Amino acid sequence: MKVLDSSALDALPSRYRAQFLNSISGIKSASLIGTISKEGQTNLAVFNSVIHLGSNPPLFGFTLRPTTVERHTYNNILSEKVFTINHIHQDIIAQSHQTSAKYDFHVSEFEAVGLTEEYLGSIAAPFVKESNVKIACKYLNDYVIEENQCRLVIGQISHVCFDESFQEDDGFVDLTKANSVGILGVDAYVQATMLDRFEYAKPDQPVSSKYGSQES
Ligand SMILES: Cc1cc2nc3c(=O)[nH]c(=O)nc-3n(C[C@H](O)[C@H](O)[C@H](O)COP(=O)(O)O)c2cc1C
Repeated sequence: MKVLDSSALDALPSRYRAQFLNSISGIKSASLIGTISKEGQTNLAVFNSVIHLGSNPPLFGFTLRPTTVERHTYNNILSEKVFTINHIHQDIIAQSHQTSAKYDFHVSEFEAVGLTEEYLGSIAAPFVKESNVKIACKYLNDYVIEENQCRLVIGQISHVCFDESFQEDDGFVDLTKANSVGILGVDAYVQATMLDRFEYAKPDQPVSSKYGSQES
């Protein structure tokens, strides 16, 4: 097996190092974050860092690169305190990726890449109509990560929209049925396949499949 120690990592050319470390951390979630400015200008951008922070209260977070350049998503969230998270599925990977281009503030990525704005109830931020799983969040807080000046942005979930056929009786949502994809590194999109689900693990009991497909 190839072994790289920290001095070998330091010696890697910066783009190569970014590709390497971004991919080796694992397959990540693939989301489009939709926002709107005070003036009504919509914005859409791809993020691979949306994570579950806790269920009670229902919190999601995502990491934001350093604010050394204009960050439209972040500025809109700070101003309007609301954003949407829209899962990327296999039929919209190219348009979704294109939202990462540095469009001018006055250009809506929805229009630029050919995705459709959708508004639900009184939520001010736009959803992506084509998406199969859509979540609205109220901005709560953000924290600077001192080591690299990135930020962890935290939102509280206010609404979740998805097709009921994706959900199992215990609440679990099978995102493979929604065709939600994952992101490897910052430019590869991968499809997920359900392998198994397991019962709650206990030290004195053998692992047990929820789908009855495996037991040991
Ligand atoms: C696959 C992929 C994942 C990305 N994930 C993030 C992320 O988690 N955080 C981030 O700050 N930027 C991320 N970006 C970069 C943003 O999409 C990009 O900076 C975008 O232009 C931000 O748009 P905005 O200025 O309109 O908010 C990602 C880009 C790609 C291609």
